[in-house]
Amino acid sequence: MYYINSLEEYERSYKKSIEEPKQFWDYIATTFYWRRKWEQTLVWNFEEPNINWFVSGKLNITENCLDRHLKDHANHLALIWEPNNPNENSITYTYAELHAAVSQFANTLKRQGVYKGDRVCLYMPMIPELLIAMLACARIGAVHSVVFGGFSAKALRERILDAGCKIVVTADAGLRGHREIPMKEIVDEATADIDIRSVIVFKRTGKPIRMQAERDVWWHDAISQVDSVCEAEEMDAEDMLFILYTSGSTGKPKGVVHTTGGFMVYTGYTFQNVFQYQSGDVFWCTADIGWVTGHSYIVYGPLLNAATVLMFEGIPTWPNPDRCWQIIDKHKVNIFYTAPTAIRSLMAHGDEWVVPYKLESLRVIGSVGEPINHEAWEWYHRLVGKNKCPLVDTWWQTETGGIMISALAGISSLKPSFAGLPLPGVQPVLLDTKGNVIEGNNEEGLLCIAFPWPAMIRTTYGEHEQCKQNYFATFPGYYFTGDGAKRDEDGYYRIIGRVDDVINVSGHRIGTAEVEDAINEHDNVVESAVVGFSHPIKGQGIYAYVICNQPPADTNQTRHEINEMVTRIIGPIARPDKIQFVNGLPKTRSGKIMRRILRKIAEGDTKNMGDTSTLLDPSVVDTIIAGNPN
Ligand code: WT7
Repeated sequence: MYYINSLEEYERSYKKSIEEPKQFWDYIATTFYWRRKWEQTLVWNFEEPNINWFVSGKLNITENCLDRHLKDHANHLALIWEPNNPNENSITYTYAELHAAVSQFANTLKRQGVYKGDRVCLYMPMIPELLIAMLACARIGAVHSVVFGGFSAKALRERILDAGCKIVVTADAGLRGHREIPMKEIVDEATADIDIRSVIVFKRTGKPIRMQAERDVWWHDAISQVDSVCEAEEMDAEDMLFILYTSGSTGKPKGVVHTTGGFMVYTGYTFQNVFQYQSGDVFWCTADIGWVTGHSYIVYGPLLNAATVLMFEGIPTWPNPDRCWQIIDKHKVNIFYTAPTAIRSLMAHGDEWVVPYKLESLRVIGSVGEPINHEAWEWYHRLVGKNKCPLVDTWWQTETGGIMISALAGISSLKPSFAGLPLPGVQPVLLDTKGNVIEGNNEEGLLCIAFPWPAMIRTTYGEHEQCKQNYFATFPGYYFTGDGAKRDEDGYYRIIGRVDDVINVSGHRIGTAEVEDAINEHDNVVESAVVGFSHPIKGQGIYAYVICNQPPADTNQTRHEINEMVTRIIGPIARPDKIQFVNGLPKTRSGKIMRRILRKIAEGDTKNMGDTSTLLDPSVVDTIIAGNPN
């Protein structure tokens, strides 16, 4: 793998990647194993969009994650799994063991009638079998669609239907802190009225569950019937690798599609260079594999580099808020990658939970998912990184597939709350609202990307037009990120946050329209408007303004019912933090809700409401302010 080890080398690579992007990526791609070399490096346009990297190249990503390492790293640890409960034993897999487990499950999938191109839904807890199942899909050319275990049955059902999955892999239950999540029960509810060929169930807790004859099979029974030799399927570079659903500003969540060759090259390259991974290091990313961070930097990026990756089943605050520090000392973690919301929550529990731990194995720490505020940055850097570990603040998205803007650990200089400089191959630009490029430094604007990079989104599953509208139509010729950013005097980027109707709650993306649709399902609700507001731990919280048909007799009861409705339709992550009942919403004459005003009220910032003259009824604003419980 191509390794950048100095600032000069970064600058040289960056320059090369802009001047000769094809030659640049050609070279990086040759450090991987291809069954057949590509004919053209890149064929693209952002109009349709149509993006092809490594055209006609043939490969299997699992040969790069596993087989390729067997020669020198067969007995090297690929995976260390740490259970939810500290009294339970950890489990490890060497590269040879993981290779065998993946091959065996790949044969199991084939036995269940899964072929190249079929979609497989994985609704699983954070256990090694999730990673094994993903790689098994990739080995036989099936497309995995991992659905985060915190989503409700209804949300799971929609995702299974949208992707047309015929197979679901799950567990009897999942463990997170003191909670047991009845995953199989949720799968049963989600699939009650859809035709699923088989549900493969891993026994994690032993919770009694109902197995449906002819459809449900136990993981351990199924694997016992096949061997662990499985030739990898030859895939085209542009064959689909996975679908991952994410929320946008309008409508239902969309299935972001990533393809094989580009995703491999980009996650492998960025993992190595951002974290400056060195052979033998233990890398721990605390994300759930149900989000893109887990796909790129628990599964593919690390394994492509023959790294040792730590996977944790539980949560940072259970049984006590020192669980992460305990794990770091226990497994001698060298690189720790987590989210600002986790840092703020641990910070709130007090320094005394961190101080007793040595944390001397740590060399690099990282952050992802939302802007990291100064206070959290300083705390993380000082108490966890002991003022000596570089803190990489990595900006990217489900759609970008891998890290786009970040320091390279120990190489670039750090600025608290700045993601920093673009990685080689990434061409960020700031645009004004009219679409003009803002040149020069000390400027703020809408963050767009001007040129393709290998792991970029190819389409949204089954809805290519949506993909075009969402990302490529706002500013023709550019990929629009939905984020606002500032570029400082040194050209460093600071991500300000979303400029669209997406809320980032604890690093999870939630569309306001989705939450509104769920709230509106309540019998007594006429209309609602949802906005984000600053939340000390979650980054952003969810604030819902709700108009009822009949004034609620018991507002607490109605609030409770609305919360239950949202939990049932989307999942607990989308529950509003605050619900305010109102008689009207600030609308323009054309009927558009002025969310800018609702955001200000939710923040408690009501001194200057700006221009409200375009509102149909400006008095509605004062009424809402008067009724604001804050
Ligand atoms: C949105 C993407 C990328 C993995 C996790 C989230 C925000 C992400 C940062 C960061 C400031 C960040 C952006 C982005 N975001 N990382 N380092 N600094 N903001 O993936 O669910 O697709 O969300 O998360 O707003 O658009 P996602």
